[in-house]
Formats: sequence, structure tokens, C-alpha cells
Amino acid sequence: MRVLLTGGTGYIGSHTAAALAARGHHIVLLDNFSNSERDVPARLQALTGQSFPLIEADIRDTETLTRALRDHEIDAVIHFAALKAVGESEADPLLYYEMNILGTIRLLQAMQAANVAHIVFSSSATVYGQPDSSPILEDFPTRVENIYGRTKLVMEDLIRDLARTNKLSGAANLRYFNPVGAHPSALIGETPRGVPNNLMPYLTQVATGERPHLNIFGNDYNTPDGTGVRDYIHVMDLAEAHALALEHIFANNVSITVNLGTGEGTSVLQLVRAFARATGREIKTLIAPRRPGDVASYYANPALAEKLFGWKAKLSVLDMCRDSWRWQAKRAGINDVQV
Ligand code: NAD
Ligand code: UFG
Repeated sequence: MRVLLTGGTGYIGSHTAAALAARGHHIVLLDNFSNSERDVPARLQALTGQSFPLIEADIRDTETLTRALRDHEIDAVIHFAALKAVGESEADPLLYYEMNILGTIRLLQAMQAANVAHIVFSSSATVYGQPDSSPILEDFPTRVENIYGRTKLVMEDLIRDLARTNKLSGAANLRYFNPVGAHPSALIGETPRGVPNNLMPYLTQVATGERPHLNIFGNDYNTPDGTGVRDYIHVMDLAEAHALALEHIFANNVSITVNLGTGEGTSVLQLVRAFARATGREIKTLIAPRRPGDVASYYANPALAEKLFGWKAKLSVLDMCRDSWRWQAKRAGINDVQV
């Protein structure tokens, strides 16, 4: 297949590009580099031995998008490009409506103009809000608790509506739980700007000495050790899931909404301990107040992905810690990484 990846030089997009290339697909990357590095295509080439054509464009530019889809004879799109910071979305809702919702509409218009009728979309477990229980199934109620979550839900609905009215032939809304890790080569990984919001990038920066300690946001939750529980998923497993989901919707012309997680909950303290075990690095921690808006615990029931397209996460929390560390250590110029 010839596949265009919006946001293809970002964290999950770049890993998916490598996974798709390994399965023989031809990949075109489209990005405006608002949250990624310009040498990602070159690093992907070093990793895979294949070249990755790059279109520098904004997803709101329908004309450029339509041309790209036509010129590269694209069969399907994987749509990663979005803004993704919950706090920023609350500070500037219109920015998020424009980039995420309007950007998706523009992309869908370009696809329609170029007769591209298959899309895989990056959704998020954030659409479940505070679930009544875990593991979470796809038919659990969706609850929007912030603007970022609202945009994900609206984008899912746009795609489902177009599939229902036969404007799209196949669509997959993939609800990621908590993506972490990096390619084991340490050639690609996550590059958060400024102070990381998320646990794993923060933790790895404590390990490199870039930050003095990790704040654990609350140890009085109703969880086994009092700290927040999440379903961390290795980005390599996630990348594989995109390839399988895409091949499934392309072959069967179906529209699906699917959780992508391991099905296992891991607490903040468990992750800190796993990191020390996987890397030999102890992490200094301090207990801090709860972070506003955080949910105590949630994790996926990922059975539907296995049933529909035979995907199951293979990598462990130790693998996630090891690969996140390799990546961050390399970026920090630490060369004696023995893991
Ligand atoms: P990322 O920021 O690394 O990748 C997004 C890419 O899109 C970046 O390269 C950025 O430069 C590009 N981009 C942003 N706006 C654009 C625009 N208007 N036009 C063109 N390119 C644009 O983020 P990621 O972690 O790889 O996330 C990919 C997708 O997965 C996003 O839609 C995100 O909301 C979703 N998601 C991420 C997580 C997570 O924790 N990483 C969890 C759930 C869902
Ligand atoms: N945490 C800390 N210290 C930190 C950072 C996080 O203790 O410095 C804790 C949080 O309180 C939470 C857990 O680590 O219990 C995970 O937090 P993350 O910020 O890594 O992830 P979240 O589950 O809060 O959020 C992620 C994405 C959101 C997305 C959400 C649901 O960042 O964009 O998953 O998919 F909306």
C-alpha cells in the first residue's frame, strides 16, 4: 500500500513509518515540524534502508494535501497530526478546535477530492474520562473532561459519520492508552519540548540528571499502593497495531473503534521500581499533591484488537523502561548505557 502519514515525523508516527516500511508498504510523511525534528526522515532511512518522501505542510492546507495524495498515488492515510497537551487545550480551546477538528475536516476534504477512502486515526483513552471501572471496553460511555478530549471525540465522530454515509470505505479509530518507549535502536523516540508532562519522559530525565527528582502526584488514591495506575504500552507494539489495523480496514472495508493497550495496570511506584530494575538507575522521588484532573486508575480491555486484526501487545514494562532509557541517555550524551 502507499500510505500517507500526517504527523509522520512525530513520536508515534515515526515508529509506525518504520513498522509499515518493514511490512513492505511505501510511506510518505507529511508534517509541519511544529513538534518534531527535521532529521527524522534521515534517521528513518538509516534505520530501515528505505527512503521516506517528506511533504512539509500543515494539515489545514487542503490544496497541498490533495496534491500530495494525488501525486503520490496514496491508497490510505494514517492521521497522527494534532496538538496533544491537555493543559494547553484548556488554556486555548480555539487553537485546539482549529488544529485538531478543522485540520481533520480539511484532511477529510482532501481525501474525498483525491478519492482516498481509508483512514486510521489516532484517538485516545482520554475519551473515556473517569471510567466506572477497568478494564475498559470500547462500548463504555465516553466522557469528555477537557478540550483535548473533546477534540478527539469530535474527530472520531466525523470519521464514523463519513464511514456510515459511505464517504469513507474503511476507518479505524484507535484509542491509545499510555504510549511509552522508543525504537530499540535509539534512533527514533519521543522528544517532548520543555519540561515533560508525562511520567516516562520525566522519569528518564531524572535518570540522566537533567531533573533533580520525580514528583509523584498523589499517593492516597484508591489503588493498591496509593499512586495512579495506567496502562503503559510500548510504542513498538503500538506501531505494529497501526499496520495490522490498516491492512484489516483496507482488505475488509470496515469501520472500527478499538482500544490499544496491554490490559495491565501499572502504578507510578511500580514503574519507578521497574525502571531501576531494567536500567540499574535509582530514581529520586518526592510525594507531591495530586495533579488536578488526574484519574486514579484505568486500563484497557484490548481483546477486540486481537479478535479483529490479531494484534496483542508483546513487550513488557521492563522493555518499555529499557528502551525509553536508551533513547533518553543517548540524547543526553550518556554513552555507557548497559541495558
Ligand atoms: P507528536 O507531537 O510527537 O506527533 C504529532 C506530529 O504532528 C508532530 O510531528 C507535529 O509536528 C505534527 N503536527 C501537529 N500539528 C500539525 C499540523 N497542523 N499540520 C501538520 N503537522 C502537524 O505526538 P504523538 O505522541 O506522536 O501523537 C500522535 C497522535 O496520537 C496525536 O494525534 C495524539 O493526540 C495521539 N495520542 C498521543 C498519545 C501520547 O501519549 N503520545 C496518547 C493518545 C493519543
Ligand atoms: N505522574 C506523576 N509524576 C509526573 C507525571 C505523571 O506522578 O511527573 C503520574 C500521573 O499522576 C499519572 C501517571 O503518572 O498517575 C501517568 O501520567 P501521564 O501524564 O504520563 O499520563 P496521563 O495518563 O495523565 O495522560 C496521558 C496523556 C494524555 C491523554 C491521557 C489519556 O498524556 O494526553 O493519557 O490517554 F489524554
